[in-house]
Amino acid sequence: METFDVQSAAYHRNPYPTLARLLAAGPMVAWKMPLLGQVHWATSFESASDFLKGADRFAADGRNAGKRNSLGIRWVPRTLRILMQNMLLMDEPDHRRLRKLVDAPFHRGWIDAYRPTIAGIADRLLDEIQSRGERDIVPGFARALPLEVICEILGLQGDRRQFMAWMANFSGAMNAWTLIRVIPALRKMMAYLRREIDRVQVEQPPCLLTEIVNAEADGDRMTDDEMMSMVVLLFAAGHETTTHLLSSGIHALLTHRDQLELLKADASRAPQAVEEILRYCSPVQATKPRMARRDMEFHGTRLKRGDRVMAMLASANVDPAAFDDPLRFDILRDGKNRHVGFGGGLHLCLGIHLARAEAQIALERLFARWPDVRLAVPDDELRWQPRLGMRGLASLPLAWS
Ligand code: HEM
Repeated sequence: METFDVQSAAYHRNPYPTLARLLAAGPMVAWKMPLLGQVHWATSFESASDFLKGADRFAADGRNAGKRNSLGIRWVPRTLRILMQNMLLMDEPDHRRLRKLVDAPFHRGWIDAYRPTIAGIADRLLDEIQSRGERDIVPGFARALPLEVICEILGLQGDRRQFMAWMANFSGAMNAWTLIRVIPALRKMMAYLRREIDRVQVEQPPCLLTEIVNAEADGDRMTDDEMMSMVVLLFAAGHETTTHLLSSGIHALLTHRDQLELLKADASRAPQAVEEILRYCSPVQATKPRMARRDMEFHGTRLKRGDRVMAMLASANVDPAAFDDPLRFDILRDGKNRHVGFGGGLHLCLGIHLARAEAQIALERLFARWPDVRLAVPDDELRWQPRLGMRGLASLPLAWS
């Protein structure tokens, strides 16, 4: 069985030859992965899109595919079991119930009202980087901006810095062992969140946490554990993803200077540029695993009930059957850029408008402040994160006058 390296730093430095091999291997490709075992990957734009729309055939909750728990693994610590009550691991009708309760504050209008706040945070972070004489744009900007923005929107008080450190720790946990190691920090974080939820219930400040606490649809409300799990999901799903969108986007523009000049000549091109970054870089490379609900044939492959399937969004986004000249990074790409960078179907990213707003503003502020910004080290010396399912830089040192 052919295997594909979609995790190492070498893959992330230049994923395109591997993605081309994956596409050539067919619309469904299977190989054995550490911890997960055999996984079937929907690789083409067509099979990935079909998979994303196929909630009737693929379950996000393993219990709907004959497994003992939602993750479909043997044993899960109690702390994590609470956090598993999140909508990314749910199927209908449970998923719709929770999603309906938080959809409204993530609509474009609600998020657009935060644009000045986001721009203010971006400017302050860039000021701080400049005054510290820092060159690496990842910790102080690409990582800090999404964390600060979500803390601000949620309205978290108390020791935010500590909370952000817990969260960064948590998302660095890549496998079962590192996950178990972060459990004590996770417990502290959950205690902090319970205090914040209690405070907001009494004080009712105007913020997203208050919206979550008060959320009611058709007479239904979230339980305390569901609220906690929701807030952690918003951080987990929204922070590293956006960090990688920023680092890989800045990198793509700096290594395609003609495209950067097009953006600098007209800042109103930022929304198009962000969509092309989402397509070309795929900061989220793959969906979470789903499990086949029953034995079936899917795009020429026989699947058994319980088999794990994931969509490889990164290969779907460079599929020549769906995009003209897909390896060309072109911020003015004709027509609708129908990438699957935000997934699709039932679990389509909730944070689409927030992620877009953050990225558009971040690029605009960075390139307006430092028009001659460039890589401070040769491209092949940059460090990419060795990570399954996400693509971004571990550090991105820049130079400017
Ligand atoms: C570059 C930024 C982002 C990218 C590329 C991205 C991508 C994705 C993708 C691909 C999924 C679907 C995963 C799957 O089907 O298994 C997803 C789901 C989700 N995302 Fe995002 N995301 C980003 C930012 C955000 C932000 C800022 C938030 C919120 C603060 C957020 C919240 C969520 C949530 C809650 C889900 C689960 C939705 C559901 O199950 O209905 N994301 N995201």
